[in-house]
Order: sequence, then structure tokens, then C-alpha cells
Amino acid sequence: MVNSNLLSRLCLGLALFVGGPGLVAAEEPAALATCAACHGKNGVGIDPSYANLGGQNAPYLALQLRAFRSGARNNPIMNPIAAQLSDDDITELAQWFSEQPLVTSANGDPSLVEEGRNRAGYCHACHGMQGHPVATEWPVLAGQSAPYIANQLMGFKRGARYHPLMANVVKNLEAPAMDALGAYYAQVVRGD
Ligand code: HEC
Ligand code: HEC
Repeated sequence: MVNSNLLSRLCLGLALFVGGPGLVAAEEPAALATCAACHGKNGVGIDPSYANLGGQNAPYLALQLRAFRSGARNNPIMNPIAAQLSDDDITELAQWFSEQPLVTSANGDPSLVEEGRNRAGYCHACHGMQGHPVATEWPVLAGQSAPYIANQLMGFKRGARYHPLMANVVKNLEAPAMDALGAYYAQVVRGD
């Protein structure tokens, strides 16, 4: 027979444990409020041209925040915001967003998905079969917003952003192909 007194004490213990500060969820970084206006607390961008950050690799996110801070990656919105961040802010924010769920945007033109899938064969070597890269310094593309992906590809082509591996990739890509690749990756589900 179950000792109901013991059971209620166990339940109380569990409730205290779950409710205890900082025991279950990681604490929100101090700088999170600044980001939430555009990326949401959980990393879902409020505009399709803003990156989705939920489920992204933490080392990749930290690298990008440093690149925005130094100006190596150029964006008129993110440069002044990143300029205010300390190294600790960057570490905490990258960790926070990487722990949020990855939400699949699926916001591209559905008629372009098949073309994007065919073109993505070339991308798999680095970004993985389902948009999950082999290195955590590289970005997850699965579920990322389609217009954001197309913008970044154009940014690599025009020089707003530089990485030796991507510079080579975009050399022969034109805008319609970038839209198709965005449409494809935006509807890839994590673990697909
Ligand atoms: C006013 C809106 C706005 C705010 C506030 C904002 N961002 Fe952004 N963020 C953007 C936009 C727009 C982009 C896309 C930049 C581009 O196209 O290169 C972006 C891109 C990013 C990226 C690049 C993601 C990737 O996949 O490469 C990271 C990381 C990021 N933001 C983190 C943050 C963090 C952390 C904060 C808070 C300290 C923040 N952002 C606040 C608008 C904002
Ligand atoms: C040889 C390896 C390699 C190949 C092939 C490659 N990428 Fe990349 N990609 C990278 C790396 C590394 C980065 C991170 C760049 C940085 O740090 O700025 C990146 C970044 C990106 C980004 C930025 C994502 C973000 O969150 O801002 C997009 C979009 C992208 N790649 C799309 C593609 C597409 C589409 C293809 C195929 C047409 C492709 N890549 C092929 C290595 C590769």
C-alpha cells in the first residue's frame, strides 16, 4: 500500500525542485531584452528578413555576433547592436538561442522547393544532408527563413559578408537560384 504521507512529501519536494530558481531553465541573459524585439525571446524572427536563431549552433552564433561587432559582417541594424555586447553577453546569448527550439519557417515559394532540393546537392558536403552542418562553427540551414537565406547568399556575393568557402559557392549563383535554395531549406525539418 502506498504511504500517502510519503507520497505527498515526495510531490512537495518535486514541486519545489521544478519551481526552484535556475534549476530547470537556464537564466535569461541580461541582454536578451534587446534582441527579443526582433528575434523574439525564443529566436523566432518577427520579420522574414531577420534570422531565426532558435536551435542554431552556439559557436556559429558567437562567431557571427563578433563579426557584427567588429564590422567584418556588415548590416546596418546588427552592427550598432552588437557593438554594445561584451564577450560574456555574446557567450550567454549564443548559448541561450542555441537551446531554444528550432522552428521550421517554411515561408518560401512552394513551387521553388523542388528546384532548391536539386541545387542543394552541392551544399550538403558542408551543411549536411538535412541542413545540419558537420562543424558547430557553421550554420544550421534547416528551417531558416527563405528570404533571409536568399539575402545572405546575395550578401556573400556582393561582399556584405565574407567567408572563403561561401565566396566560392555563390560565384555562379544568381538571384532566382538563391530564392529556390531558400525555399528548399526553409521547409526542411530538423531530423528529417
Ligand atoms: C531591430 C531589429 C534587431 C534587433 C534588436 C536584433 N537583431 Fe539580430 N538581426 C536583425 C537582422 C535584420 C538580421 C539580419 C542581418 C543580415 O541580413 O545580415 C539579424 C541577424 C542576426 C544574427 C545572424 C544570424 C545568422 O544566422 O547568421 C544574429 C546571431 C543576431 N541577429 C543576433 C542578435 C542578438 C543576440 C540580438 C540582441 C543583442 C539581436 N540580434 C538584436 C535584426 C535585429
Ligand atoms: C565548402 C563548404 C560550404 C559549402 C559547399 C556551402 N557552404 Fe554555406 N556556409 C559555409 C560556411 C563555413 C558558412 C559560415 C560563413 C560565415 O561564418 O560567415 C556558411 C554560411 C552559409 C549561409 C549563412 C547562414 C546564416 O545563418 O546566415 C547560407 C545561407 C549558406 N551558407 C548557404 C549555402 C548554400 C545554399 C550552399 C549550396 C549552394 C552552401 N551554403 C554551400 C560553408 C559552405
